Amino acid sequence: MNEGRVVVDGPVEAVREHPKVQEVYLGHGRDVLFARAVHEQGADATESILRIAGIDTFYGKSHILHDVSLELRVGEVVALLGRNGAGKSSTLKSAMGLVPPARGRIEFAGRDVTGRSPEDIARLGMGFVPQGRRLFPTLTVAENLALGRLRRREGDGIRWDQERIFEFFPRIRERLGSKAETLSGGEQQMVAIARALSGHVKVLLMDEPFEGLAPAVSEEVFLSLDRLRREVPILIVEHDLDLVLALADRVYVLDRGRISHEGPAAPLRTDRELRRQVLWV
Ligand SMILES: Nc1ncnc2c1ncn2[C@@H]1O[C@H](COP(=O)(O)OP(=O)(O)OP(=O)(O)O)[C@@H](O)[C@H]1O
Ligand SMILES: [Mg+2]
Repeated sequence: MNEGRVVVDGPVEAVREHPKVQEVYLGHGRDVLFARAVHEQGADATESILRIAGIDTFYGKSHILHDVSLELRVGEVVALLGRNGAGKSSTLKSAMGLVPPARGRIEFAGRDVTGRSPEDIARLGMGFVPQGRRLFPTLTVAENLALGRLRRREGDGIRWDQERIFEFFPRIRERLGSKAETLSGGEQQMVAIARALSGHVKVLLMDEPFEGLAPAVSEEVFLSLDRLRREVPILIVEHDLDLVLALADRVYVLDRGRISHEGPAAPLRTDRELRRQVLWV
């Protein structure tokens, strides 16, 4: 089934070979998709928008991040990669003020925001799409979006109003009155991104936006992000390397809470040996 319609029925063999089924499950082919992506848009980006400088972060007594530094510049998509438990989500949470670092600095849009509350940091224009999406399941899409609609500081950056958000995620408009729990995984992800975008957003932090999505839905989210990148710099954590490397200009790799590699994304797209060296995959 796809979007509520039976695509094909019959013996397993016939179903598996059916072109429509292949499209739903496998997508149109990643090569086709990636060929359409804008690569290296941020190649000449120089203006820093988010700078994490030498942070150490703890959960109680557990020392999770060790001297982590990274930078996101205007015009860039930067990927933060690493194995499960490496500290990727913790890095995003530190930047967002959810788990403040014990040492080091967070600079955002020219200010030192170290130790500021998540609400303050959000108001300054940092949008966060958490791992697992975290929508309120029994509230409608419209209500979920309204809850995310902070009064952000006016000023530079693009103002994201509802109409503009619908341009990127047209499906959301049709689902405004539906409870979030009744949406498909892909639709929920789009709502989570839309929620993070409201107001004057200067950067978007995303934690595993493709997690749990079927390939065809991943494609749709991928294409939305590939358009969004022209509007807002993105720091993205993602395990699906092909997808994330197709989007990213640069990558940082975390290994047990330390940055173990930093560099351009392009060589990692094609050089499998380099991928193995840098990412153990
Ligand atoms: N709230 C918490 N309290 C204590 N330890 C935590 C907490 N959250 C994460 N950790 C620990 O911190 C380390 C880094 O976790 P983090 O969630 O940042 O990893 P990650 O790279 O995002 O992993 P994944 O790819 O599985 O999402 C792990 O060892 C994890 O067990
Ligand atoms: Mg994580």
